Amino acid sequence: MTRFNDYKVLITGSARGIGFAIAERFAASGATVLIMDISAEAVQTAVKKLTDSGFIAFGYSGNVTDSAAMEELFAKIIRDHGKLDCLINNAGITRDNLLLRMKEEEWSAVLDINLKGSFICTQKAFKVMMKQRFGSIINIASVIGIMGNAGQANYAASKGGLIAFTKSCAKEFASRNVRVNAVAPGFIVTEMTATLPEAVTAEYAKVIPLSRMGSPDDVARLCVFLASDDSSYITGQTIAVDGGLTMH
Ligand SMILES: NC(=O)c1ccc[n+]([C@@H]2O[C@H](COP(=O)([O-])OP(=O)(O)OC[C@H]3O[C@@H](n4cnc5c(N)ncnc54)[C@H](O)[C@@H]3O)[C@@H](O)[C@H]2O)c1
Repeated sequence: MTRFNDYKVLITGSARGIGFAIAERFAASGATVLIMDISAEAVQTAVKKLTDSGFIAFGYSGNVTDSAAMEELFAKIIRDHGKLDCLINNAGITRDNLLLRMKEEEWSAVLDINLKGSFICTQKAFKVMMKQRFGSIINIASVIGIMGNAGQANYAASKGGLIAFTKSCAKEFASRNVRVNAVAPGFIVTEMTATLPEAVTAEYAKVIPLSRMGSPDDVARLCVFLASDDSSYITGQTIAVDGGLTMH
C-alpha cells in the first residue's frame, strides 16, 4: 500500500462525496490533506472528521471560479505548508436539462465550475509545481465526458473539455516533471445516488460489465496511485473507474 511521506495534497470540493473519500484515503496513506470547499462550515466539519481519526488535515474555503480568491488561497497554502505536491480538481456540479430547454445559466454554471474552475486552480498550482519541479494534477472528469448523455449536454461538454484540457496540460507541464491525468468515474454511490430506487440502480447495473455501482473509495484509490511514484511514467491519460462501462 502506498505510504506518503511529507506529501501535501489539495482537493477541491472535498467537504463531502467523492472529494471527501479521496481526502480520507490520502490521509490514511500518510499525506497532509488540504480540504477545500465553498462552505466554510462544511470544510470545518470535514477537517474535524479527519483530525478526530488521527489524520493530518487542514481546511480552506473558497470558490474555484473566483480567480483572485484562488490566487490568495494558493499563496496561503504555500505560506502554511511550504509546498504543494498534488492538486485534485474535484469540485463539480450538474444542472441537467434537455438541450431545447436548457437555460444559458445552466450551461454557464456547469462550464464555469467544472471547467473554468479547474483551469484557474491548475494555473495557480502549476506556478508552484514548476518551481518545485514536481507535481501531480488529477482532474475528476466523468464517463459522461466520454460517451455523452441525454439531458446532460452542459455536463458532458464540461467533462469532455476537462479531458482535452488534461492532455494539453500534460504536454505543457511534462518538461517540469509535473504529470496531469484525468479520472472518469462511472456510476458511483454517493449521498445523491443512494436515494435512487433499487429498480433504477438494478437497471444501471445491467449495462455495467462488473454488474454493480462503484464506491467513492474506488475513485480515491486510483487518485492515490496517480499521485504516487507508482505512476511516475503515466501522464495525459484518462482512466475510467466504471466497472467496464466504457472501453476504448
Ligand atoms: N457521483 C458520481 O456518480 C460521479 C460520477 C462521475 C463524476 N463525478 C464527479 O466527481 C466530482 C465529485 O462529485 P460528487 O458526486 O462527490 O458531488 P458532490 O455534490 O457530493 O460534491 C461536490 C463538492 O464540490 C463542492 N463545490 C461545488 N461548487 C464549488 C465551487 N464553485 N468551489 C468549491 N467547491 C465547490 C460542493 O460544495 C461539494 O462539496 C464532481 O466533479 C463530479 O462531476 C461524480
